[in-house]
Amino acid sequence: MRKKITIPDILLMKQEGRKVTVLTAYDYPTARLVDAGGVDAILVGDSAGVVFSGHENTLPVTMDEMLYHVKAVVRAKPKALVIADMPFMACQSGEIEALKNCGRMLQEGGAEAVKIEGGSNMAPIIRAITEMDIPVMGHVGLTPQSVHRMGGYKVQGRKDQAERILEDAHAVQEAGAFAVVLEGIPAKLAARITDMLDIPTIGIGAGPACDGQVLVIHDILGLCEKYSPKFVKRYADLAPLITEAARQYVSEVKDGTFPTEEHSFS
Ligand code: KIV
Repeated sequence: MRKKITIPDILLMKQEGRKVTVLTAYDYPTARLVDAGGVDAILVGDSAGVVFSGHENTLPVTMDEMLYHVKAVVRAKPKALVIADMPFMACQSGEIEALKNCGRMLQEGGAEAVKIEGGSNMAPIIRAITEMDIPVMGHVGLTPQSVHRMGGYKVQGRKDQAERILEDAHAVQEAGAFAVVLEGIPAKLAARITDMLDIPTIGIGAGPACDGQVLVIHDILGLCEKYSPKFVKRYADLAPLITEAARQYVSEVKDGTFPTEEHSFS
């Protein structure tokens, strides 16, 4: 049987050159299924706001909503490390508020680590949290909570922006993070950062050189038909299967072929 993945295991993977695999999940059945697939970590991402709740972006997601998702995932008792994403404004308004909110993710939610978007700007907050033994995964580059500053979901770190992203990644490591997500940056820059850092880099739209990869579960399963970013690989195409199953059910109930005796109690 697979052993429980811990923070030291994730750090060891980089040292031993083993890739770290991460997928998002927001509910109990999905957490069970991706865990059975052998992922090293489950990220309960605030992407839930978009792919689960149907918001335009992640900004409306609240602490209470994230706690609901984290609790559901933790109930699956995954062997994978459970990382709770900190929603917009849960950590931005000061150390005390950030500590309280991150603490809730571990104490009430049962998560084993938190993820915080932001680089040098968030380093003092990340330091305060890691000093209280709450493991933090950083997230730099294209940070979806900064959608308005970026003017959309645009690749970050091109040309003269590259040094800023390097500094951000370094600041996050120095603040005590155990890993850092590199999102939406050029592959060469991600390779430089991966080389520079001792902690694992987890890429999403950051090329193959990262120490690990993360993707949104709805994207790899083909559940989001609206938009599929270039960096996504679809491993299944579930949307038409689900619609077809619903269509067949509707048709059989309407024409009386379901339910039959087989589905009835005597
Ligand atoms: O919210 C999320 O799912 C994320 C990943 C895409 C990195 O932040």
